[in-house]
Amino acid sequence: MAPTHLHLHLLLLSLLLPLTPAFLLPLSKHPSSLHYLATSYFTPFPRPLHLVLDLGAPSASIRCSPPGIARRLPCRSLPCLSARVNKDDGPKGEDDRNVFCCDEGSACWVRGVGELVEGDAVFGSSKDLRVPGFLYGCASNALLSGLGSGIQGALGLGRRSRVSLPFQVAESFGTSARFSLCLSSSSGVLLLGGRGRSSSPTYMSILKSLTYTPLITASSGDSPHEYRINLSSININGIPLSSNSASPPYLAKLSTTSPYTTMPTPLYKAFSATFLDAMTSAGMNLVKAVRPFALCFEPSREAQADPTPAIDMVLQSTMVKWTIQGKSLMVRADDRVICLGIIDGGVGFGQEDEVVIGGYQLEDVFMEFDFGRSMLGFSPSLASMGTSCEELAWDLSPKDLS
Ligand SMILES: *[C@@H]1O[C@H](CO)[C@@H](O)[C@H](O)[C@H]1NC(C)=O
Repeated sequence: MAPTHLHLHLLLLSLLLPLTPAFLLPLSKHPSSLHYLATSYFTPFPRPLHLVLDLGAPSASIRCSPPGIARRLPCRSLPCLSARVNKDDGPKGEDDRNVFCCDEGSACWVRGVGELVEGDAVFGSSKDLRVPGFLYGCASNALLSGLGSGIQGALGLGRRSRVSLPFQVAESFGTSARFSLCLSSSSGVLLLGGRGRSSSPTYMSILKSLTYTPLITASSGDSPHEYRINLSSININGIPLSSNSASPPYLAKLSTTSPYTTMPTPLYKAFSATFLDAMTSAGMNLVKAVRPFALCFEPSREAQADPTPAIDMVLQSTMVKWTIQGKSLMVRADDRVICLGIIDGGVGFGQEDEVVIGGYQLEDVFMEFDFGRSMLGFSPSLASMGTSCEELAWDLSPKDLS
């Protein structure tokens, strides 16, 4: 058939717009635990489940009681065997870390989660994404005891897992191996699959603003499911941080379950000393700390209009940086007092050279996790572009995307 005007028109459109479908899950923030929640429906559970978004977790895990309520998988079944980490993907010796197939009763287990089971799942409060035969973990109450009230489990977006939500969506619908997150203190979105067909000007300009940095492969001992990037330096007002005990490059792990960015103690000490100097010389007085923060300030009469320094996390080159400033850096405690929203990890906190970028600092940044290509795309602060994740959540409609 010869191309008609309509065909030509469609062809042009397909060149202009990203066409792979995307699925949209609205998110909310739990007021006391500060976790980000998504709503879903899993068979055989009759009621909607509110699940905590967990970037680094290998699978969804639901409080299952009584045990055995869901459809169990024999350990030699195809779904159970295929849930293992791809041996070619991860670092050596990682194959059994994700799914430990077969306990003594020949059930299929996800290590650290519980029994792997199968059920139909529907995601989003308006039920836009239906995944038949979804694999998830039945977790014990003890494992989920740290979750806030009214929360029934976690939704893992883990990077190397074949039972994470993004991987299962990509498998079921043949969409790209990627997902995007835009978090805020009110509403936010998780986009799964492609970029969708939406022509929302806000969305298009956000997509154009993305900068990319490689995701780092875990070294042995680290979970292969976490999303980590290299930081070649951390700059305060353009000056690289120096510390005797930790030297660049640092690692940064992105975490949706840590409410605030957290640094190992030696790095935090160096960081907070430099930060305090910058604040006091801009006319801010140190006042009594408001937990969990250590550094809180009140403006003096001589305070500058915009006293907080910019923090640059410099990535693979000096041209590529993730800047944290203003509202993303400081948390308002009351009318006059603002606190540094970066905290000290203290004793027993992770690795010496690893910063955990927490939820508060991830808010109002659009992030595209391309786990297929091992790249992270991130936008500048959406506030600097005159928009927000809340506005994006309003602007995107599931129909436009799929
Ligand atoms: C991250 O930094 C380490 C240490 O400098 C380096 O060996 C590695 O190649 C870097 N990874 C990427 C993807 O840039």
